Amino acid sequence: MQYNEAFFDQGIDRTGTNAVKWEAPEVMAEGVLPLWIADMDFRCAEPIRQALVQRAQHACYGYTFVGDEDARALTGFWQRRHHLHFQPQDALMLPTVVAGLRACVATMTQPGDGVIIQSPVYGPFFSAIVDSGRIVMDAPLRHDETGYYTMDYQAIERHLISGARLMILCNPHNPVGRAWSQEELRALVLLLKRYRARLVSDEIHADFVFAPKRFIPILSLPETSADTVFLAAASKTFNIAGLKQSAAICRDEETLRMLARFLHRGGAESGNIFALVATQAAYNACDDWLDGLLHYLKGNQALLSQILSEKLPKAVVSPMEATYLAWVDLRAYGLDHDQIEARLKKHKVAFTSGRFFGQVTGDGFMRVNYGCPRAQLQEGISRLASAMNEG
Ligand SMILES: Cc1ncc(COP(=O)(O)O)c(C=O)c1O
Repeated sequence: MQYNEAFFDQGIDRTGTNAVKWEAPEVMAEGVLPLWIADMDFRCAEPIRQALVQRAQHACYGYTFVGDEDARALTGFWQRRHHLHFQPQDALMLPTVVAGLRACVATMTQPGDGVIIQSPVYGPFFSAIVDSGRIVMDAPLRHDETGYYTMDYQAIERHLISGARLMILCNPHNPVGRAWSQEELRALVLLLKRYRARLVSDEIHADFVFAPKRFIPILSLPETSADTVFLAAASKTFNIAGLKQSAAICRDEETLRMLARFLHRGGAESGNIFALVATQAAYNACDDWLDGLLHYLKGNQALLSQILSEKLPKAVVSPMEATYLAWVDLRAYGLDHDQIEARLKKHKVAFTSGRFFGQVTGDGFMRVNYGCPRAQLQEGISRLASAMNEG
């Protein structure tokens, strides 16, 4: 199979599959074009499909354990793609990254503790903290007029002085598309260490970093504490999020034991036959699909920038270093957030509301998912332009 432009251009019809992006009844009305929730409208790599079909043909689907080969596929992929070495026993298999985040908050902090995040950031970071009775300590990212975001170390330090015990990092960052540099991460790690605060790094978007930028795994820094956890998944990378499989990786045995105990108590253990089979195939045999995808997404970035500069010149798109999600600042159009939402609804296009990532820091912003065929992206951005230019 050739994973070229023609392959990605054809996309895939998801009608009738209960795809949240296309069919969620509370979000999607008739004829709305979805460029919102973070999955992609592409066929997955052929080895994944074949592995699933082959396993499905064996007509017994009883309890299954996570095998050595599952952990080896994970370690092999990270070694090959990111030059990061860890041992199979450093990994704990989880159903989802969000389950991992919640387990980290519960086991690394006490009720009432402060947990630092950097808004605008993936919405469930907030709920993972609030739902478990911890306190959100937001150190909002700073940005310049080009939409380039950086960390606010002073704000982080203020929270550390106030007693924050944990930080959840999004590396690379959803939604602002930053691939954090080695220097930025090192400064962060050293700061947290100074105050003995712990770190969880959500690296689900690790595989979407575009040259010349490079993805820097948090565990690759020699300064990183041994009890740092990073969360990894093949789900975004290979577009298999519906299967629900991820992993927490930590070089500290006790931390992993605590996470495993928490997940066991909540009945949220890994072991879905199809998730494991597909994830193994993804990690072992789909690099060509991923490379083709990254090339295609780079083209989508160019298309997105071009249409916006022609049709919506006052919109500011943050530099797209990472993820397949563009962070678009629409504030220069002088509409309030609800008005923008209403216009998008009328023009039948759906993005993720900036407010999902921060009530204040996301106000006036939309996140555009450009992981789709170019024709779809072109139509979606044209609808955005019509909505904003109306009247
Ligand atoms: C930063 C980040 N973490 C976690 C997730 C969700 O992962 P999961 O479905 O494994 O919980 C997403 C999905 O968009 C995400 O962007």
